[in-house]
Amino acid sequence: MRPDTYMKSSNGQISIGGVDLQDLAKTYGTPLYVLDYHTLHQRMCRFQEAMASLHVPGQVMYAGKAFLCRAMAELVAREGLGLDVVSGGELVTALTAGMDPQRIVFHGNVKTREEIRLALTHHVGEIVVDSLDELRRIDQMARELGMVASILLRLTPGIEAHTHEFIRTGQFDSKFGFALKEGIADEAVSVALDMSHVRLDGFHAHIGSQILEGEPFVANAQALLAYSRSWWERARFWPRYLDLGGGFGVRYQPEDRPPELESLLARVKDTLMEYTPEGATPPELWLEPGRSIVSEAGCTLYTIEAVKHVVDEKVYVAVDGGMGDNIRPALYQAKYAAEVAGKPENRPEQVVTVAGRYCESGDILIKDALLRDPQVGDLLVVWGTGAYNYSMASTYNRVPRPAVVLVHDGDVSLWVERESWEDLMRQDRPLDLVTSLKA
Ligand code: LLP
Repeated sequence: MRPDTYMKSSNGQISIGGVDLQDLAKTYGTPLYVLDYHTLHQRMCRFQEAMASLHVPGQVMYAGKAFLCRAMAELVAREGLGLDVVSGGELVTALTAGMDPQRIVFHGNVKTREEIRLALTHHVGEIVVDSLDELRRIDQMARELGMVASILLRLTPGIEAHTHEFIRTGQFDSKFGFALKEGIADEAVSVALDMSHVRLDGFHAHIGSQILEGEPFVANAQALLAYSRSWWERARFWPRYLDLGGGFGVRYQPEDRPPELESLLARVKDTLMEYTPEGATPPELWLEPGRSIVSEAGCTLYTIEAVKHVVDEKVYVAVDGGMGDNIRPALYQAKYAAEVAGKPENRPEQVVTVAGRYCESGDILIKDALLRDPQVGDLLVVWGTGAYNYSMASTYNRVPRPAVVLVHDGDVSLWVERESWEDLMRQDRPLDLVTSLKA
């Protein structure tokens, strides 16, 4: 929920990474995304170590969609993780950051020709193919470029993880991947194996996000391996890589219990060994955690701009951000925890609704937040906003997007500058009527 370096003094001042949050707000303004290096590093190491403890070849690919900017991609590379990208923009960010293209895996149910060309010409490690049309396009483009594209096929194993409907992806009728049903995946594998300019390296399945149980991950591994086994029997095809995606849940609320990574992976490894045929090598295991790397490392700082009493004793605490910097409460009914900085324990607590500044009744950041003496001018800290906040931010209402800073050992480093009103105007052109409208 909170970053590992969270500290609170007796007068209620809060620091992260040794940096006082009220000082940060004064220097960088609000809203402000804050990331704690220690927590990020610890989460990356946890995945790396859990993987290493299995003693099977494996790779951790950070899923950039959770949070990506140039500095983050540089950090990911430095920490020895690979990167999962889903667009030309994420790919360019990774390449600009100096990430080894071989350690990049390129996802997405739609990849434009331009994006595929970028991936092929930079020799990204694997392209994860999502449709027959895309498969044919990649084969043809690789042929034109005189190369062979390394691909994985994205499969949907029919596993329904218990998470919000919008972030479930493993079910057979998902828009993603090839279903392990009605011969749909079989056709894709046959076509891929017959192609001369793609090399099928293995299978991928990501079943959903914010999954708080271990079972669906094991079931996913089982489904992919059983399916691989069927291809071994049929055509002696066996995957080099098995990519189980991300989806590991995190704590947003004190009662959330994320799955225990080590025991979960140990069960995945047993499955791997059980299904690998004699004479074949177990596939290299890939994971793509996004949220579980970055969510708890992040928080958002807001200034309370109004405390408004409405009917039935309801109190709104309105802040200077909202759905533009955090769409998750409005989109997925996501629940966040928050705290007012600088409030000693002797101040009274109050149940309030934290409202965003955007012109939508649905722009409510937190319903029923228990806050200590919230007053205009106070700093409100919302925890666990590291994932899918900055990366899903918009300029709705033409409100510029916040800055991102990293804190570590009392130091601050600016990762993304705050957008300005000038930035918003930069791409706009004045009205220039076409001839037919000038009359
Ligand atoms: N790999 C693939 C192929 C994915 O589609 C995703 C997430 C991940 C890895 C990383 O999943 P994670 O470890 O972060 O759960 N915007 C939503 C989440 C969408 C996730 C999409 N795919 C949210 O804010 O909850």
